[in-house]
Amino acid sequence: MRKGYYIQTLHFKENGMAKTTIQDLLRKKAEGKKISMLTAYDYPFAQIIDEAGVDAVLVGDSLGVVVQGLENTLAVTMDEMMYHTKMVSRAVKNAMVIGDMPFMSYQTSSEDCLRNAGRFLKEGGAAAIKIEGGAEIADRITALTRSDIPVMAHIGLTPQSIHRMGGYKVQGKTKTAARKLIEEAKIVEDAGAFSVVLEGIPMTLAREITKTLSIPTIGIGAGPYCDGQVLVMHDLLGLFERFVPKFIKRYAKLRDDAVRAVREYKKEVEEGVFPSEEQSFK
Ligand code: KIV
Repeated sequence: MRKGYYIQTLHFKENGMAKTTIQDLLRKKAEGKKISMLTAYDYPFAQIIDEAGVDAVLVGDSLGVVVQGLENTLAVTMDEMMYHTKMVSRAVKNAMVIGDMPFMSYQTSSEDCLRNAGRFLKEGGAAAIKIEGGAEIADRITALTRSDIPVMAHIGLTPQSIHRMGGYKVQGKTKTAARKLIEEAKIVEDAGAFSVVLEGIPMTLAREITKTLSIPTIGIGAGPYCDGQVLVMHDLLGLFERFVPKFIKRYAKLRDDAVRAVREYKKEVEEGVFPSEEQSFK
C-alpha cells in the first residue's frame, strides 16, 4: 500500500472523516485482527451499529424475511434494496456500507449485473456490493471490479439457491463438496473479490478456506476460524422468532421487551394513567 495514501487515510480517520475501506479490511486480515459485520435495513439500526464501531454494514436481502415477512429472499427487488440502502447510508459515518444484489439482478446478463450493482454506489451510497455464487458468476465479479465496483462474494449456503439446495442446508459436508468449495473460494478471489462470505459450512472447511485465501473470509454459520463474522441484526437483538438456527447467538431479547412495553402502554391508556399531567401542556 502507498505510504501517502495510508497517512492520508489515518489523518481522516483521526478526524472522524473516513469510512472503513477495502484496504482497512485487508490490513485487518494481514494483522490477524477480526472483522465485524452486521446487517441493517434502516436509519436507526444502522446508526446503532455504526456507533458501536462495527467495521461493515450489510444491507442484506435478508430484509425480505426479517422486515418484509416473506418466506425467503427471492422476491426482494432492486428498488426495495435501493430504498433500504439509502436509509442505511444516510446513518453511517464510519463503517463500510455494502449492498446485497437481490435474486435476478445479476443472473440475467452482465449488463444487468453492472447496471444494478452501479445503482448501489450511485443511488444507494454504498461502497461495495455483495453477490451470491462461485465459479458461475466469476465473469460478473471481474466485470464489476474492472468497473471499480468492489465485490464481496458469498459462497456455501447461498439463500437465493434455496430451491436448488432443497432448503437451508449446511454445504460442503462431503470431501467432494468441500474440495469444490475451496476451488470456488479461489475462483472468486482470482476474479477480483475483496472478501468472501462463507455461509453454513463446517468450521474446519472454513478454516482451510481462510488459510488458503489472501482476502478476508466473513463467516455466518461457519465457525470461529474465519477472518470476520456477520449476523443478521434482528437475530442478534432477539427481534426475529420464526426460526432460530444453531449458529445464532442472541445478545438481547428486544422482542420480549417491546411486547412488554406495548402491553404496559395499552393498560395505562385503558386505566387513564397515560398521559398524566407530566406529559401534558399547561
Ligand atoms: O442477506 C443477508 O443478510 C446475508 C448475510 C446474512 C450474509 O446474505
